[in-house]
Amino acid sequence: MPRQTPDSIIDAIQSRVEKNALRSMQVRSGVVDFSSNDYLGFAGSKEIYESAHRKLEAKGLVQNGSTGSRLLSGNSDFYVEVEQQLADFHGEESALLFNSGYAANVGLIGSVPQRHDCILYDEYIHASIREGILGSNATAYKFRHNDFDHLEKRLRSLAPKTRNFYVITESVFSMDGDSPDLEALVKVCSADNVFIIIDEAHATGVIGTQGQGLVQSLGIGDAVFARIHTFGKGMGCHGAVVLGNRLLQNYLINFSRSFIYTTALPPHAVATIASSYEELQNTDQIALLASRVQHFKAEIEKLGLQSQFIDSESSIHCCVIPGNEQVRKISSSLLEAGFDVRPILSPTVPAGKERLRFCLHSYNTEEEIARVLIRLADLIGK
Ligand SMILES: Cc1ncc(COP(=O)(O)O)c(C=O)c1O
Repeated sequence: MPRQTPDSIIDAIQSRVEKNALRSMQVRSGVVDFSSNDYLGFAGSKEIYESAHRKLEAKGLVQNGSTGSRLLSGNSDFYVEVEQQLADFHGEESALLFNSGYAANVGLIGSVPQRHDCILYDEYIHASIREGILGSNATAYKFRHNDFDHLEKRLRSLAPKTRNFYVITESVFSMDGDSPDLEALVKVCSADNVFIIIDEAHATGVIGTQGQGLVQSLGIGDAVFARIHTFGKGMGCHGAVVLGNRLLQNYLINFSRSFIYTTALPPHAVATIASSYEELQNTDQIALLASRVQHFKAEIEKLGLQSQFIDSESSIHCCVIPGNEQVRKISSSLLEAGFDVRPILSPTVPAGKERLRFCLHSYNTEEEIARVLIRLADLIGK
């Protein structure tokens, strides 16, 4: 008898097809990369790869896996050393490694806010933060994107019935590329029971002269309760870290389910994180990326495209092209011309705000940037 598939699955797929929003995985090669998160080219760095292997050999860590959770057999001096390296680099009291940014957000936000607490989050926050909120016992309300007047009103109206507030946002928004005014956020969150959590996924390796992230660049680390840095983007490897004080670290080791109930990262992943962080302190790729970003912005202006782009100083630049069909069509035409620029469809972004998402890299040449934007201008009739 043929194996049956639940009708709910068939219906869900059919509905995506009808909305022109069915996702699929593709393998692309031989095209100019305006899509990966490898902002500094670290993912393919031979220096980082070799440095990580030298570290493992020096430590005698001839080991393919970590063998268990950090709380059981999966811990070693090496993990603790690397966490200290990250805490020192980020000027923070403690650092706790997680297996991914997704796991870090689910584990931090799912465990820290409690009953009688309230989470206030930017309406555009990442899916992993939403998952954390769903797993938490706190109440949760969104505030309008980067709108801290709205946040302040929410704080005021909810204050009488709330023990602690957790205000959550990102330093570079993954689908928009823009950044909040974090200094203004700190002012709005000055009360003793308001705790700020910042996801620095797309700022890591990108913002700050050494890629430290936005919080550190602004010198506001002490006003932020927890920061999440992920390593699958600018750092070119895998995993994530939650930065905060020792009490927070201790709490997460005891209560964060995505930290406790999973096998720790393998030693080679941890060695690669350590080597990528060392590279941040020596590389010229951060400055090169910053100059490519400025070049991209200058070209947009020259071509009269800036009104269609969301303003951004980061490595993510989005051209809003309403409608799944239209944005897909333009992405396909760019691909035919040799450029990999991915369409971001609804429901990932609100309907009418579909977009082409350009991820810029230190290895994109000025000529590639000029060519892709000229082609884009042709396609959208500018
Ligand atoms: C803002 C943000 N946070 C967290 C994550 C998840 O990080 P990871 O890919 O390491 O799971 C992402 C990845 O897309 C992200 O964009």
